[in-house]
Amino acid sequence: MTALTRLSLTDFRNYASLALPLDGRHVCLFGANGAGKTNLLEAVSQLGPGRGLRSATLPEMMRKDAPGGWTVAATLDNDQKIGVALETGSGAKRNVRIDGASATASDLADLIRIVWLTPSMDGVFRGGASDRRRFLDRQVMAHVPSHGRAASRYEQAMRERNALLERGHVDPAWADAIEARMAEAGAEMAINRAHVLEALQVAIELRPDGHFPKADLALEGEAEQAALQGDDFKSIFETLAETFRTTRRRDIAAGRTIDGPHRSDLVVIHRPTGAPARDASTGQQKALLIGLILASAGALRADGDGPAPLLLLDEAAAHLDPDRRAALYEELGALGGQAWLTGTERFLFEAFGDRAQRVRVDDGAARVED
Ligand SMILES: Nc1ncnc2c1ncn2[C@@H]1O[C@H](COP(=O)(O)OP(=O)(O)OP(=O)(O)O)[C@@H](O)[C@H]1O
Ligand SMILES: [Mg+2]
Repeated sequence: MTALTRLSLTDFRNYASLALPLDGRHVCLFGANGAGKTNLLEAVSQLGPGRGLRSATLPEMMRKDAPGGWTVAATLDNDQKIGVALETGSGAKRNVRIDGASATASDLADLIRIVWLTPSMDGVFRGGASDRRRFLDRQVMAHVPSHGRAASRYEQAMRERNALLERGHVDPAWADAIEARMAEAGAEMAINRAHVLEALQVAIELRPDGHFPKADLALEGEAEQAALQGDDFKSIFETLAETFRTTRRRDIAAGRTIDGPHRSDLVVIHRPTGAPARDASTGQQKALLIGLILASAGALRADGDGPAPLLLLDEAAAHLDPDRRAALYEELGALGGQAWLTGTERFLFEAFGDRAQRVRVDDGAARVED
């Protein structure tokens, strides 16, 4: 089990100061709308790589009227103390500490891995490719923390290429250099995505059949296809570099980079009907999404190189009928890590029995009830 046995906050969102002692079981947060339940999940999500569950900037998470900065600190069930902070004067930088000493985000990623599901992901199958790409990349980051840095390098190089294209006349040597950086980062991204897609599909097969249906996954994108077929880094790099070089003229006309890993899509098929997830009903899509997130957590658990994942489920319980809720709590038993759930009512978590702690959240305060 990977679990938090304590969560402490200062000046984070609507929490001036919070110290929440926990016993390592799953955590059910309940309380009124606006009480601060999602804020607590967002705080926990700061312990992983990236911007966290709301994709907020570091200053946005600071409590309004606070003197400056915020901290999220936690104790792990092996008694290690971890924390992240935004300190005044440090710019927009996240400071990481492990057992009192300054550390890096990748040190932290060796100790804790986090997956989440929020209501804002509900439209992921209906939306555009960019929503699904972001969804996939979040799962990839939980598995491969360096994925976010590869994506940033790619974005940066692409911005430079687009600026060059917009000018209309392109110096070939300059473009070659920029495109090599894009191809390098893009090949890394594609390999990460393919690797995680395969791990997800394996984890899907290992999940129980029933309330949260299985999905068949595929990736649309030249580089991802090559990675799925087992092409190595060098070959994917060369193919991407060649694509960028041969599409230069067309991209000058368009004023932007048309093809590349920034356009890839995650294809999800709802297995029980064989239809694309986008055509499934609202309820079917929700159940499919929960199944995917459970598979993502399952894939992290199966990967013995790192800790079992923490799973943050915002408002997942309220939309499920009692049988599905019970099935969800049952499946969380096999997670190997602590699950954090939110809901407005305590009764939503009844079927957990004594497998979870209940925490009442009330206007920037939280306390364990039992
Ligand atoms: N930076 C901030 N400083 C102070 N308060 C903030 C900040 N950001 C958000 N809040 C407050 O936090 C509260 C929302 O908290 P949160 O989203 O966690 O609620 P919730 O319990 O999840 O509610 P719901 O059940 O509606 O989802 C709001 O009252 C909001 O004004
Ligand atoms: Mg909320």
